Amino acid sequence: MQTILTDSTEEAARILNSGCVVAFPTETVYGLGACICHPEAIGKIFQAKGRPGDNPLIVHIYNLKQLYDVASEINESAEKLIERFFPGPLTLVLKKKQSVPDIVTAGLDTVGVRCPANPVAREFLRLACGPVAAPSANISGLPSSTSWQSVFNDLDGRISCILKGEESPIGLESTIVDCSGPSPVLLRAGAITFEALQKVVPGITLNTGTGKESRPKSPGLKYLHYAPKASIVLCTPLDPITAAPDSAYIGIAPPPEGVRVARHCISPEEYGRELFRFFRLCDAEGIRVIYCELPSPEGLGRAIRDRLTRAAGKESG
Ligand code: TXA
Ligand code: MG
Repeated sequence: MQTILTDSTEEAARILNSGCVVAFPTETVYGLGACICHPEAIGKIFQAKGRPGDNPLIVHIYNLKQLYDVASEINESAEKLIERFFPGPLTLVLKKKQSVPDIVTAGLDTVGVRCPANPVAREFLRLACGPVAAPSANISGLPSSTSWQSVFNDLDGRISCILKGEESPIGLESTIVDCSGPSPVLLRAGAITFEALQKVVPGITLNTGTGKESRPKSPGLKYLHYAPKASIVLCTPLDPITAAPDSAYIGIAPPPEGVRVARHCISPEEYGRELFRFFRLCDAEGIRVIYCELPSPEGLGRAIRDRLTRAAGKESG
């Protein structure tokens, strides 16, 4: 299949509305979208990514009307979070309407819903024939794509279209909060921090599951994620590092001596934005070991730490 590259939201939406898979930019990472009114197109997403069928997709909406079209119950916590953080980098897990196809939610009775803020994403969703199911636009297991070039590298020839936009300014996937139970639970850390969520819903708790239970809260947690070809070594500024040959470093503390490629970030925001792009750059450069500074689990550090521990093949922490 030929993958059309375009910067026209009209062209991309036309292709989407004809039942095809289209990658599009959002402020977190690029998404790989299909309209939920075309269940056969949703199947093509799983095929293109090589994604296991038991891992549900997030449904992207343009407005509150679409929210009520897919969610059957919106409790008080969800209402408060929507009021404060939609549109933005937040996904809420809510009880689903029956009309949402099972292939989208992997048979769960809940649906993840997100309303992105990126203006190109919003225009694309406005022109779409309905809510758009979209995972991150990468081959399953690899780092998420934060630029259209990364999407192209992974998925050229496997999807119908890439809507070209800017590099994703956040660079880490959305925060996911489960609001389908009596009190909200943070399932995946992201740019909307646990501390910011606590101010709006003080009863929110952290998910203590690993995703490997028989009925995990978030099925995606059990899979290896975000992993470059190089091995990841997690470190703190105090660790003495003798750099291995062909190694690289990313972090906020100054790089150790002897690494071939280094990315010295000035803030957690820059670290988050650069992380996946750096992993992909390291793969292109033939790097074999990447030393990554492990930030403490506060603020955005919690999300970076989560991605790093999972990329390193360890439990999230
Ligand atoms: O920022 C993002 O969230 C990006 C952009 C494109 O919106 N999307 C994204 O999708 O990261 P994906 O599929 O790579 O990650 C979605 C995660 C998976 O771990 C999945 O298991 C979980 O969300 N998820 C989706 N629906 C769920 C549900 N109903 N209940 C629990 N977890 C759910
Ligand atoms: Mg993903």
